[in-house]
Amino acid sequence: MSLYDLLKQRRMVRHYTDERIPREVLERLAATVRRAPSAGFSQGQRLLVIDEPELLQELARDETRDAEPWFGSAAAHVLVLTREQDYHDRYTRPDKLDATGGEEIVWPVPFWHVDAGAALMLVLLAAIEEGLAAGVYGVQVDDQPRWRELLQIPDDLTIVAGVTLGKAAPDPEWSKRTSRATQRRKTIDELVTWNRWSS
Ligand SMILES: Cc1cc2nc3c(=O)[nH]c(=O)nc-3n(C[C@H](O)[C@H](O)[C@H](O)COP(=O)(O)O)c2cc1C
Repeated sequence: MSLYDLLKQRRMVRHYTDERIPREVLERLAATVRRAPSAGFSQGQRLLVIDEPELLQELARDETRDAEPWFGSAAAHVLVLTREQDYHDRYTRPDKLDATGGEEIVWPVPFWHVDAGAALMLVLLAAIEEGLAAGVYGVQVDDQPRWRELLQIPDDLTIVAGVTLGKAAPDPEWSKRTSRATQRRKTIDELVTWNRWSS
């Protein structure tokens, strides 16, 4: 199936069967991070793959029970993190400084977030390739201290987003959870402009 056809089918799945994901599948999926683009090849992206049952249970601890279990059924999580310092280190290397007159660039946007998004997308695409379903989530600010402690995340890493993985199970209550149910898909003309942005 072509990528375009696959993308039409892609959606967040928030309920999984109890089938485990073999370690080698998770390894293949995680290895995509090495192929992710990154500004100046800074490679600030980091993945934390979580497949230990006790940790998975802990992450599901506060799940509300208003629909099928989401975290409670996930066979694994991939947390996408970024190390901003990798970008400052890279952009103060001689070849970069030569190009910018000796100063670290003024960052047009935080490229460490951009690159994390690119790595996240590769995880989602690899999940499709492996016949898995995936669901993206953000870790709320209030929850961050517990997550960071539980997963022993070093201070120089920022959690950008997480992805739950598993074999898709029926999720008839999908529409309760997805913003797709409340938000209209924007038209191509709203999203894509050609050549000049005139009103
Ligand atoms: C950065 C990011 C954070 C997200 N956080 C959540 C979340 O916390 N909970 C959730 O149910 N979905 C979350 N989503 C999923 C989006 O709601 C979903 O991608 C969007 O509604 C479009 O649906 P689709 O991906 O199924 O096409 C997140 C997606 C992204 C990219």
